[in-house]
Amino acid sequence: MASPASQPNPLPAAESPAVGVSVEALSKSYGKLDVFKDVTFAVEPGEIFVLMGPSGSGKSVLLRQVAGLETPTSGRVMIDGHDAGSAETREHVRRALVFQAGALFNSLSVYDNLALYPREHQMGTEDQIREKVMRALEILSLGKTAETFPSQLSGGMKKRVAIARALVMEPQLLLYDEPTSELDPVMSATIDEIIGSLRKEYHVTSVVVSHDCDLALSIADRVGFLMDGRLVHVGKPADLREPADPRIAEFLNPKIDVGNPRFKKIHTET
Ligand SMILES: Nc1ncnc2c1ncn2[C@@H]1O[C@H](COP(=O)(O)OP(=O)(O)OP(=O)(O)O)[C@@H](O)[C@H]1O
Ligand SMILES: [Mg+2]
Repeated sequence: MASPASQPNPLPAAESPAVGVSVEALSKSYGKLDVFKDVTFAVEPGEIFVLMGPSGSGKSVLLRQVAGLETPTSGRVMIDGHDAGSAETREHVRRALVFQAGALFNSLSVYDNLALYPREHQMGTEDQIREKVMRALEILSLGKTAETFPSQLSGGMKKRVAIARALVMEPQLLLYDEPTSELDPVMSATIDEIIGSLRKEYHVTSVVVSHDCDLALSIADRVGFLMDGRLVHVGKPADLREPADPRIAEFLNPKIDVGNPRFKKIHTET
């Protein structure tokens, strides 16, 4: 595919600068389930921050608080000085979330999936919206898929459509939930490259939730680890090569214990 970096200014650079994110003593519970407690970290404008952690540790829940889709139980998320859930943030900060499962509308063509938000928010005439949509599709090498429907696309293409849909909003803050899960190594590397290029070209701030250690090593400025309901580590990607915390070492290099009842159960069921 064409590298986004090789294309001549495919989307206009953000008119406003990238924004910082400040997560302050954030806790989230659902009824009796405490997902995480007292999580604090900051993401600098233009930074790529990768949030890692085991399945069920609350990565998607945390990202939804940053996206302003849910209200924290306590603490707060500030974006460019405004509360993430507030009307001011919605008005002043262009942010976009790339959902873990894509969240495309199956009844709409790829083109209409991308045009939906700009039409709803009257981001220009139909011709101007067409130009934005087609440019976003070109950046992700998806120009030929405009008239197809999500059910006709591979998993990797759907992931790229979800990123293209976020790009159409010309975001200052891009939130990605597992952008490389279920993709082969080549497609994963392509997505890593796209995330890196978007930051370089448009200076967008990125928070990326992922299990993928290769992604963290190749694109992150800093990595955070969410485990056992706490943010247990924030540091440079190089720290992942020799993690000080044994829980992180175990997560990155799991030793498979064939005597473990959970392992036996999975392998006798398949
Ligand atoms: N809306 C909700 N209501 C109740 N519980 C929820 C809700 N959303 C998430 N949870 C619970 O919160 C916990 C964390 O879920 P979350 O989806 O954030 O995990 P995750 O770290 O993103 O996992 P994965 O890596 O598998 O995507 C889980 O126990 C989940 O069941
Ligand atoms: Mg998740």
